[in-house]
Amino acid sequence: MRYGVFSDVHGNYEALRAVLAFYKKNGVEDFVCCGDIVGYGPQPLECAEALLGLKSLTAVLGNHDAALLGRLEMKWFNASAAWAIEFSRRRLTGRALDFLARLPERAVTGDFTLVHGSPRKPLTEYLLSGSQFADNAKAFEVSPCFIGHSHMPLYFREGEKGVPETDFLRPASRVATAKGPLILNPGSVGQPRDGDPRAACGIYDPQKKVFELYRVFYDVGATQKLMGELKMPPILAERLSFGF
Ligand SMILES: [Fe+2]
Ligand SMILES: [Fe+2]
Repeated sequence: MRYGVFSDVHGNYEALRAVLAFYKKNGVEDFVCCGDIVGYGPQPLECAEALLGLKSLTAVLGNHDAALLGRLEMKWFNASAAWAIEFSRRRLTGRALDFLARLPERAVTGDFTLVHGSPRKPLTEYLLSGSQFADNAKAFEVSPCFIGHSHMPLYFREGEKGVPETDFLRPASRVATAKGPLILNPGSVGQPRDGDPRAACGIYDPQKKVFELYRVFYDVGATQKLMGELKMPPILAERLSFGF
């Protein structure tokens, strides 16, 4: 079995469609989503319904999902992010809303641990430094631990003499997952922030013990056009062109 590991879809259905088509082409049928399904993008309902349609999915709640559900204070969000959460709340109904409401903050299987932000603070911590990794390494048992939230494709692991080893993941980067504790972020499907506007996603093979990162082209202009029609804050559309 190989898992399609992805995060931070953020209502960008064009990007999600392209990523799911990429997985289909590569024979991947089991999925892991690290949260933030809604927020920022124009099609939160379509994204939630697409994930609902996956036969095998392990997913957790992100901070934008939690805010939509009224479980996280809006003071954590800037004006455009807050606007998009209110917008998403009006769009999400029925089964899609129930799906979001049922997502846990943490999931643990025999193959991995899953949280949105960090193992110690699943909804709020941006895990970006070696010292944060050292503290968080004690907060999970099954390695690798997949995270999202920062929208940065990267990994952390315990290195020589206890010094954390870390690097950004570029397209076609491979990370051996046998030696833990290891924390991996597959980057963002719907709002990349590492200067590459393509959707980011990963494939994890627990038998071969390897994780690979990929970048997938999608129709950025189609998402931006829809955002314009919906009169979403212009910065949310503009940033998609540059991946920041
Ligand atoms: Fe996010
Ligand atoms: Fe987040």
